[in-house]
Amino acid sequence: MPAQPLIDIQNIQKTYWNGSVATPALRDVCLKIREGECVAFMGPSGSGKSTLMNILAFLDAPSSGSYHFAGVDITSFDEDYRAHLRNAAIGFVFQQFHLLPRTTAFDNVRLPLMYAGVGRHEQKKRAYEALKTVGLADRMYHRPNELSGGQQQRVSIARALVNNPKILFCDEPTGNLDSVTAKEVMEILKRLHNSGRTIIIVTHADDVASYAQHTIHMKDGKIV
Ligand SMILES: Nc1ncnc2c1ncn2[C@@H]1O[C@H](COP(=O)(O)OP(=O)(O)OP(=O)(O)O)[C@@H](O)[C@H]1O
Ligand SMILES: [Mg+2]
Repeated sequence: MPAQPLIDIQNIQKTYWNGSVATPALRDVCLKIREGECVAFMGPSGSGKSTLMNILAFLDAPSSGSYHFAGVDITSFDEDYRAHLRNAAIGFVFQQFHLLPRTTAFDNVRLPLMYAGVGRHEQKKRAYEALKTVGLADRMYHRPNELSGGQQQRVSIARALVNNPKILFCDEPTGNLDSVTAKEVMEILKRLHNSGRTIIIVTHADDVASYAQHTIHMKDGKIV
């Protein structure tokens, strides 16, 4: 059975309007990403990487063009449905970790499950499993300020994984890390990819992009 692409966007345009000033951020972008792929996006500042990622991750809607996700045309779905898809299918890892400061690693990872209404016992089991996956089971009762930068990013990867998302979106995941720690984090993402997870990374760093199967270069709102 030929696997249909997980992500299939055609002729996506995105224009931001500030009053009467138009900023075209994406121009006629077409892209297919299959389940299990690991893709890196690179390109100069302002080239449209975050704009594209926001659309792919259901945070924002394109101005025109179509988006099929797992074969379903979701182009005209409203914000409520996008939020539903986002919660069900997407995990996010950010440059700045975005962990709650006075909360243990374990509770930071449990939080998405609490919001999703998962039972307490299941929450604890899955949070522990996710922390084990990133090698932090022994640090689970530490707060973020008691963890190194790399450990904090691993907690945020565990938090992104705990809902078992189809896709992990990583926006500059190593941007705040030294090169040794960055490598540790990329090794974890590589392991997740090897176990079948679809991973999309935005990065400025060639050595980070080299972990991906494909690198997509963007310039002036286009894929080049
Ligand atoms: N909310 C917004 N309103 C108006 N213009 C925007 C908005 N967000 C982004 N833009 C513009 O859209 C273009 C693409 O921005 P985007 O954030 O996607 O770039 P990027 O490739 O992610 O850059 P960086 O590497 O700096 O993060 C830029 O010209 C930017 O100024
Ligand atoms: Mg950006």
